Amino acid sequence: MGILKAIKKRRSVRGYLDKTIPKQVLDCILEAARLAPTAANKQPFKLILVTDKQNKAKLVEASRKQTFIEEAPIVVVGCAFPEESYQTIGGTIHTSEEIDVSIVFDHLMLQAAEEGLGTCWIGAFDESKVKEILNIPSNVKVIGLTPLGYPSGKEFKPGKHMQRKAVSEIVLYEKYKENACQK
Ligand SMILES: Cc1cc2nc3c(=O)[nH]c(=O)nc-3n(C[C@H](O)[C@H](O)[C@H](O)COP(=O)(O)O)c2cc1C
Repeated sequence: MGILKAIKKRRSVRGYLDKTIPKQVLDCILEAARLAPTAANKQPFKLILVTDKQNKAKLVEASRKQTFIEEAPIVVVGCAFPEESYQTIGGTIHTSEEIDVSIVFDHLMLQAAEEGLGTCWIGAFDESKVKEILNIPSNVKVIGLTPLGYPSGKEFKPGKHMQRKAVSEIVLYEKYKENACQK
């Protein structure tokens, strides 16, 4: 599968089968995450793979009761080490850890799609609760969570998928122009 096919196939999956992920499949997904670029190649992150049912249930509570999270066999928790991240990127960005983990998650999610698995970025969570559940120290930042598993299909609404702005609405040529984009 080409990369664009995997990009088009990926969607937020909010229903999962109770089906184990084979080790070689999980290894491929983690390899994609491992190879993600980070600022100055500092790799200031760790991924916690949560499989314990009780802890997954607690993560649901810490994530505004988004119950589909615990249906997946694995919940991946993306953690960053702000002190180890690139500190002086410049522009409007100061430290790199949020961007670094976001790219790692994107790699992971696209490889998961390639393997026929689903993911869903969970940004609505209470960081202090997640840290308490998983013993994450105070100097570590939780950037995001995602369930990882085989889609049940029940949440998929055809037609809703991939509604995005047209290229003409998001791309400007040469210089910024107000109202330059056409629908
Ligand atoms: C930073 C971020 C946070 C998100 N948080 C949640 C969330 O807490 N719960 C959820 O169901 N989806 C969440 N999403 C998924 C988006 O709603 C979804 O990616 C978007 O609607 C586009 O749909 P698609 O992923 O199916 O293409 C989040 C996505 C991003 C990028």
